[in-house]
Amino acid sequence: MVLDSDHHTAVFLEYAERFLGDSTKENNHIQLKIDHSLKVLENAKAIVADTPISKHTAESTLLAALYHDIGRFCQYRKYKTFNDRKSVNHGHLGVKVLKKSRVHHLIPDSHRRDILSAIALHNRNTIPSHIAEPLRTICDIVRDSDKIDIFRVMLNHFSSESNDSTVALEAIPHPTQYTQQIFENVWQGRPCLYSDIHWTNDFKLILVSWTYQLNFPISYRLFYDSGLFDQLFALLPQSKEFWDLKEKLIRFITRRKGAVPTGTVARCN
Ligand SMILES: [Fe+2]
Repeated sequence: MVLDSDHHTAVFLEYAERFLGDSTKENNHIQLKIDHSLKVLENAKAIVADTPISKHTAESTLLAALYHDIGRFCQYRKYKTFNDRKSVNHGHLGVKVLKKSRVHHLIPDSHRRDILSAIALHNRNTIPSHIAEPLRTICDIVRDSDKIDIFRVMLNHFSSESNDSTVALEAIPHPTQYTQQIFENVWQGRPCLYSDIHWTNDFKLILVSWTYQLNFPISYRLFYDSGLFDQLFALLPQSKEFWDLKEKLIRFITRRKGAVPTGTVARCN
């Protein structure tokens, strides 16, 4: 049984690179998910290093981060989309894929259940309140790590003005159009749903809404100090209501990222 994340990275790459083929467009989509998985692992390592958790929980967290999107490759091969509403829940598919792969046998029984549960839960809108430790912490770290990197991926996509609609889940590009209800939800700190996305600005607003959902002070530092937040607002409509929203969120982030870990797992909420 091997828990070393470098060994598992090699195993993950061996699995994922089998989905690369002759089509440049399809290879770009597969490579996007390979790179994303590795970045999520990197983010999780940074959060784990800053958070007082047991070695056992840290090991489960890093493997859950690496394998959280293992279902994406089969999803794309079969349905040619990353849109779960038009195909399957990629978290649930990931659990099925991992159970059938040799990875399953490389993870000890003592860690397997939490890793599979974290994969199944990583793309839920919220984590059910009955989820207990250590799974709750594993989920919180994987979900923060995932959000921070989705931010990077989507910024690259929107900045490149690519017309590849697969990455933005088929949202319609427009420089100024957005859905007022989504803006209101973000302003009020209410949850937003992918299913409400119509315009690409709606997608950007949903990314902005994650400001309220990160769990650890280090997550806010990774997210804000990297410049991702400012870059995203530069791609949204330049109007007073968006400037006001940005100011409101910066005040929130400043309070959150300054929270100091105190011996137990320091969450921001
Ligand atoms: Fe995912």
